[in-house]
Amino acid sequence: MAEFKEVSPNAPVSEKLLNWVDNRFPLSKLFEDHMSRYYAPKNLNFWYIFGSLSLLVLVIQIVTGIFLVMHYKPDAALAFGSVEYIMRDVPWGWLVRYMHSTGASAFFIVVYLHMFRGLIYGSYRKPRELIWVFGCAIFLCLMAEAFMGYLLPWGQMSYWGAQVIVNLFAAIPFIGPDLALLIRGDYVVGDATLNRFFSFHVIAVPLVLLGLVVAHIIALHEVGSNNPDGIEIKATKDKNGIPLDGIPFHPFYTVHDIFAVSMFLMVFSAIVFFAPEFGGYFLEYNNFIPADPFKTPLHIAPVWYFTPFYSMLRAITTEMMYVLILSVVLGALFAVTKIRMPSFLKPVVLVVAAVVAAAMWVIDPKFWGVVVMGGAVIILFFLPWLDFSPVKSIRYRPNWHKYLYGIFVINFVILAYLGVQPPSPIGERVSQVGTLFYFGFFLLMPWWSTMGEAKPVPQRVNFVAH
Ligand code: HEM
Repeated sequence: MAEFKEVSPNAPVSEKLLNWVDNRFPLSKLFEDHMSRYYAPKNLNFWYIFGSLSLLVLVIQIVTGIFLVMHYKPDAALAFGSVEYIMRDVPWGWLVRYMHSTGASAFFIVVYLHMFRGLIYGSYRKPRELIWVFGCAIFLCLMAEAFMGYLLPWGQMSYWGAQVIVNLFAAIPFIGPDLALLIRGDYVVGDATLNRFFSFHVIAVPLVLLGLVVAHIIALHEVGSNNPDGIEIKATKDKNGIPLDGIPFHPFYTVHDIFAVSMFLMVFSAIVFFAPEFGGYFLEYNNFIPADPFKTPLHIAPVWYFTPFYSMLRAITTEMMYVLILSVVLGALFAVTKIRMPSFLKPVVLVVAAVVAAAMWVIDPKFWGVVVMGGAVIILFFLPWLDFSPVKSIRYRPNWHKYLYGIFVINFVILAYLGVQPPSPIGERVSQVGTLFYFGFFLLMPWWSTMGEAKPVPQRVNFVAH
């Protein structure tokens, strides 16, 4: 047991109380280790606010969620009515509900920006691979959380969206139909589905999400933040072991983050109070109609944050499968002729490619659509091992890398746009090209990331006081 620390009998009561706690729980030590003596690079910029904002939105979602559950009824006959009751009769219920629905979209906006920052500054590279991997797991959980939450109001879009997505699982060979049945708890989306989605949405997934966020931040504080220059500040320390380019997180970044939180809350409140449906993007108009299993809406589209992935799903047609089969065959030939590997591996690569190509030929494209949609998220986990660039940050990469990242973002936005539109022949073609670009960007990264001349990286971070 650690020695008990004493304070002067004349010390203020607050100091005595803190000392009493510190002798029993490492409160001051935790504050010092993670705030006042946690040294973050002094050049963190605008892009570094989205981690704290994600935390803020997480808290908003949990708090508003707790209040919604007090009046919501997870019963197919009562759910829609209970949400209307919250909106009209529960004091401040409309505010709580709109904060929660706007919070869902806000969560994805801040998390997408947060991930983009990681992408451009190479924050996923050694030694931050696990921070990134935990982040990707958070993103997966967030998608599951949003998907299941969307069923709860039991509107037309809730119902038919869930019907479409759960049916996709049925396309998995052998286990698909049973898996879809297990997810629904019935042969169609119904009361059993609503109950299990409710249980997952309010407790199971949030618990995992919270655990992952804690792991994400523990991993971050173990290695320290990256920065826009992609330089390790721990490489240059003063005689006390403090990084020369580091500043204490508190008060410097607490103030930085409070400012960001204020800006965010202004925009967030403007949407909650003046445009909570956000033109049908945050709350779809069809979802104000109660679920009707006998009336399929003309156009079923997921909420905007899922649409890039939904577009990739729709892009996988029979025709597209020919292109994908060709890609697998060419990829395998390229691997055995151009990549150095033990000679016994070469036939293995060719056989695996032949089996995959044959499976792609015989199994329904709908299944491969699901594989592509899932793969688009899973591939993110592997990013730390795909990037071979000699420098981390976009600042010191060849200029054309910037354009490539720019095209990646535009492509992602186009896929998102196409995902909300009804299917069309042109849209289908564009989304197929977009899907190939998305996967090409990641799968060919080991090759293109080494191309071009990197600029010299300075020893110390760039910082101009403002
Ligand atoms: C609930 C969601 C999330 C929360 C609350 C969260 C929280 C945070 C916080 C507070 C930071 C430090 C501040 C900052 O660098 O912005 C951070 C850093 C980081 N996060 Fe997240 N994060 C979340 C999701 C994600 C996701 C989805 C990814 C990627 C797939 C990710 C990747 C990273 C990386 C790589 C860093 C280190 C950045 C650097 O040092 O340059 N995070 N996160």
